Amino acid sequence: MINPQSTTSKGAIGVFDSGYGGLTILEKIREAMPEYDYIYLGDNARTPYGTRSFEVVYEFTLQAVEKLFELGCPLVILACNTASAKALRSIQQINLPQLDASRRVLGVIRPTAECAGELTQSQHIGILATSGTIKSESYILEIHKLFPNITVTGEACPMWVPLVENNEYNSKGADYFIEKHINRLLEKDPLIDTFILGCTHYPLLMEKIKQFTPPHIRIVAQGEYVAHSLKDYLNRHTDMDERCTKNGTCRFLTTESKNKFEESASIFLQQKDIKVESIALE
Ligand code: DGL
Repeated sequence: MINPQSTTSKGAIGVFDSGYGGLTILEKIREAMPEYDYIYLGDNARTPYGTRSFEVVYEFTLQAVEKLFELGCPLVILACNTASAKALRSIQQINLPQLDASRRVLGVIRPTAECAGELTQSQHIGILATSGTIKSESYILEIHKLFPNITVTGEACPMWVPLVENNEYNSKGADYFIEKHINRLLEKDPLIDTFILGCTHYPLLMEKIKQFTPPHIRIVAQGEYVAHSLKDYLNRHTDMDERCTKNGTCRFLTTESKNKFEESASIFLQQKDIKVESIALE
């Protein structure tokens, strides 16, 4: 039990990612809801999660959620597709009732899946994501719950996150890996008319992805859909909304060195002068 008073406790909205990528989601959430307080937590010391096992992603994500609860967050968004795919359900069903049933943990896959119906004309969607997210089949499952007639095909792009993390996303070298996975996905299903970027890092690759994608295909980054869905959630759950404090602040926490985070966060954020705190997860 985190806090016996928690049904009434107030705090910032927690936004968790394995590293920097969730900052692309945080930006869209803050654009849509600037009045709220946020705590962003990046597990940069242990990123990437995309190639890790179910057990490890679950363990690490649970530690992050517990930390954000300790810091008073009544609501935590897993702004990481891999964590949403591999840990969200277990945390919601097994851990939350024991930790504090009044708090909520939400992911990014369901809100993205909810939009699938309005995105595709051909009823064929392609998902580009990490190996972990593709193997979990979470996008297929979530989209089929809502739209059973949509054909969903996944393609794992294990090199795309390292390209972004190493600031190589605009380089010539990136072209090979971008083109390869787009072609593979279209070979698997030539009827695809919509690509969903099912990884927090991929919006940074948008220009390159566009370059190698036939023009009739729509490329969808999920940040705006997640932000819209969160806003809608808080409109419908006024008890939770009242528990989310609103002073327009944002705290940044990392499990790596704060200097490293401050430098690299500028790739993902418009804002340059952020203050970062180092924390440990266990
Ligand atoms: N944040 C992860 C995701 O959206 C990508 C980075 C990682 O592999 O940890 O899947």
